[in-house]
Amino acid sequence: MQVTVNGFSMAYSDAGQGTPLLLIHGFPLNRQLWQPQLDGLSDVARVIAPDLRGHGDSQAVPGPYSMDLFADDLNALLDALGIQEKIVLCGLSMGGYVVFAFCRKYAHRLRGLILTATRAAADAPAGRAGRDQMMAMAHEKGVAAISDSMLPKLLAPQTYPARPNQVEQVRSITLDVSLEGVLGDLAALKERPDSTPTLAQIDVPALLLHGADDQIIPLKEAQAMQAGIRGARLAVVDGAGHLPGLENTGIFNEAIKAFERFFGFP
Ligand code: MLT
Repeated sequence: MQVTVNGFSMAYSDAGQGTPLLLIHGFPLNRQLWQPQLDGLSDVARVIAPDLRGHGDSQAVPGPYSMDLFADDLNALLDALGIQEKIVLCGLSMGGYVVFAFCRKYAHRLRGLILTATRAAADAPAGRAGRDQMMAMAHEKGVAAISDSMLPKLLAPQTYPARPNQVEQVRSITLDVSLEGVLGDLAALKERPDSTPTLAQIDVPALLLHGADDQIIPLKEAQAMQAGIRGARLAVVDGAGHLPGLENTGIFNEAIKAFERFFGFP
């Protein structure tokens, strides 16, 4: 489905009924990442998964992008869908950085948070330099080079020999992003603020889901967020790297269902 928000056409999937569960993908990904949650959670929630601007089937608008801008797009999506009730917002990696921006701007729309494969801190100087290198690579060699550089890190090390089909599925997802999207993301990632002070302001139930073998954001980042968010629960997803909802769908979806039962989404 497509809807116009903030002057561009945004693609989204929408399945099920009940409390809206809005799923935000990471970099350089799109909503295909969330198919196992659209399939497996739409019996307990209304699962909505958009493609951020520049990604997947959403329009390839030029930058600058920022985490605040992505949060504004999501807020506009909720308005466009006529959703007035409070939502559960779930973000993976860069999507988690968007969740923090959403918390700062639109906390009144939230009834719960799920943060997966993400961190609160801003980029360190070496990380910022890495973003510049990737931007140069994207300009010079295109989106396929970004996909090639990310693919070996996105999944758990053991997944590569064991599940070649899943590796190819993730490759194909990472190729479905525009150059505008990649460049916009990288600048937004580089400039994002430190969200550590936001943790203490979160006053809705929070669930942290992190792959035990995440090669991009280590588990200790989730443990640090758990210490900073009042009452947060942490579920470690075994056999998963940076994409736990795809790599170990059973544990991931069950943890969200348990969160739903405990806090009662409906
Ligand atoms: C992501 O998966 O969204 C990115 O790898 C996050 C990051 O690079 O900080």
